[in-house]
Amino acid sequence: MPSQNRRFFVTTALPYANGNFHIGHIMEYIQADIWVRLRRLQGHEVHFVGADDAHGAPIMIAAEKAGITPQEFVANIAAGRAQYLDGFNVRFDNWSSTDSPENHELAQQIYRDLKANGLISSKTIEQFFDPEKSMFLPDRFIKGECPKCGAKDQYGDSCESCGAVYAPTELKNPYSALSGATPVLRTSEHYFFKLSDPRCIEFLENWTSESGRLQPEVLNKIKEWFAKDEEGNGGLGDWDISRDAPYFGIEIPDLPEGSPRKYFYVWLDAPIGYLASLKNYLGKIGVDYERYIADPAVEQVHFIGKDITYFHTLFWPAMLHFSGRKTPSQVNVHGFITVNGGEKMSKSRGTGIDPLKYLKLGMNPEWLRYYLAAKLNSRNEDVDFNPDDFAARVNSDLVGKYINIASRAAGFLSKRFGGQLAAVSPDGETLLDHLQTAVGSIVELYAEREYGKAIREVMALADRVNEYVDANKPWELAKKEGMEARLQDVCSTCVEAFRVLTALLKPVLPALAANVEAFLQCAPLDFDNATRVLGAGHVIGSYQHLMQRVDIKLLEALFEPPAAPEPEKLIPGGEEIAPIISIDDFSKIDLRIARIENCEPVEGSTKLLRLTLDVGEGRMRNVFSGIASMYQPEDLIGKLTVMVANLAPRKMKFGVSEGMVLAASHADEKAQPGIHVLQPWPGAQPGMRIH
Ligand code: MSP
Ligand code: ZN
Repeated sequence: MPSQNRRFFVTTALPYANGNFHIGHIMEYIQADIWVRLRRLQGHEVHFVGADDAHGAPIMIAAEKAGITPQEFVANIAAGRAQYLDGFNVRFDNWSSTDSPENHELAQQIYRDLKANGLISSKTIEQFFDPEKSMFLPDRFIKGECPKCGAKDQYGDSCESCGAVYAPTELKNPYSALSGATPVLRTSEHYFFKLSDPRCIEFLENWTSESGRLQPEVLNKIKEWFAKDEEGNGGLGDWDISRDAPYFGIEIPDLPEGSPRKYFYVWLDAPIGYLASLKNYLGKIGVDYERYIADPAVEQVHFIGKDITYFHTLFWPAMLHFSGRKTPSQVNVHGFITVNGGEKMSKSRGTGIDPLKYLKLGMNPEWLRYYLAAKLNSRNEDVDFNPDDFAARVNSDLVGKYINIASRAAGFLSKRFGGQLAAVSPDGETLLDHLQTAVGSIVELYAEREYGKAIREVMALADRVNEYVDANKPWELAKKEGMEARLQDVCSTCVEAFRVLTALLKPVLPALAANVEAFLQCAPLDFDNATRVLGAGHVIGSYQHLMQRVDIKLLEALFEPPAAPEPEKLIPGGEEIAPIISIDDFSKIDLRIARIENCEPVEGSTKLLRLTLDVGEGRMRNVFSGIASMYQPEDLIGKLTVMVANLAPRKMKFGVSEGMVLAASHADEKAQPGIHVLQPWPGAQPGMRIH
């Protein structure tokens, strides 16, 4: 047991709730989960929490497109999280959302504390506004021509064609990606966190360079961010933390009288979500949050990817410190997972490996945990997933070296000795000593997040055990007269050795370790009891196969792109089904049965027919319809059809159109010409509503 028990509060980055997990998320969770399990196996206390990052414009817009509220949208995504986490044996103590009541309260409180400390300022800024959507446009939703190279359809912050970086106001012919409208410049009062305040800079320079807090390569990067050029430009700038309505976020409290509503920028409340999820969890287990979070003995450890370093090493500690709170002990930055030689995974599309497909194919989640562990180190380097390498490491190392030890020895023990272990002779003891002595340093490697090194050491130990097996050849001992005792001794040594190795792999392979504990009929392994043998007389259960080898066919299936969609099948009528709407949305459209009382050609138009319609209102409606290519006017007179009766009247060149007749057509007029007016079944009467 550790001489002194430590207390950890561990988090992973809170994933945006606008999509399912991709392999990059899973890698981060596996890295953190291994560390959490290790700390617990050392006997330390750990609270490990996550949450969905619910707020922001992209989620609001995605929800609008789907025709549901942002809350519903986020709830749908949240409902899909467990299958990934359970599937890969990632065990968070709690999973919450940044839209939780705890987070609303904490974010507003932290803001008030920062304001009271003189670190919030406000100023009027000019921004692009979409006049059709009535909203200020985030940079990502403004497009136009690159001011440098003229490439079309570039985003408001940078050009994908020439790489130039600019302000959205510099784009030529800008348009709103939401409505297509030309944005206009509007002013708005924004609130800023004064990161440029000398107090902040001094604090951050000290905080970031305190030993053990950040990786050296991360600190170097931060030093670049601190640096100013000869003209005094660069360095830390104030941070715009406010957004205008409409926005899915937390309202900024205590605004001046008469001010329109403002919301916190998503990145203000996102890291506060760490505390909110913790608070939510401690509430469930009956621990006082305020006391826990203020306790200097609690070490707050964040696992994040390299792309969000700025937020976690500058904004976040400054927000905590200047609102009178304790700051993180450690921010651990990992690199990105790439697939097949460096092809960068897209953050949003997350192509490469589909984690759910991996699970659905029946691939063992612990293969992936093992493989990633074998490749991870404490630096923020990228990790490449290579299928051949994956198969080789799992098959030759994990199964070939480690699992094999048990399968070679256990059978003899059960068949010949009723599963009973014997006393181990001195050569076996030397081997076991060697393994037990290595436990401390390997655990230390894991604690430093040098998983790859730890795994290499474990495999080196497995090599030693296999050498022992090869030297003693239990399969030959089993055939020789009078060698029973030696056979039992050698196999007992192997089983004891296998148990130590299992303890060392337990943070990485928790499910496998649980199976081994059941098979060995021993207490749950930890790093303390692993240094003591089960001993002579202990009876183990019968060996059951512990892990399959990777079949290369599975990897091929994993990487096989999803079958190309057959456009005709997937896109009915030439266009995709429109986004989901609610029944309320549908009921806004008043569809009525109409009788075509009269129909005539329109002078000056080859497309239109003029219809006179009766929808049972005691008056006639005049409607223009683009169906002249299909119907002779006399074909239609007297027939029933369906019309939109509450469409705003539209003034056309030929007169006012008071509604619309429903007709079907293919999206690609040329490929499949024709437009077909709807006709109800017999019995329908003019004026009946369609539900
Ligand atoms: N919502 C923010 C984080 C807020 S934390 C208060 C965010 N979300 S994210 O979904 O885009 O990313 C979540 C985590 O996944 C981040 O740590 C990010 O670095 C990590 N990864 C995203 N793509 C990745 C890879 N391809 N590889 C490894 N991790 C990657 O950022
Ligand atoms: Zn360009």
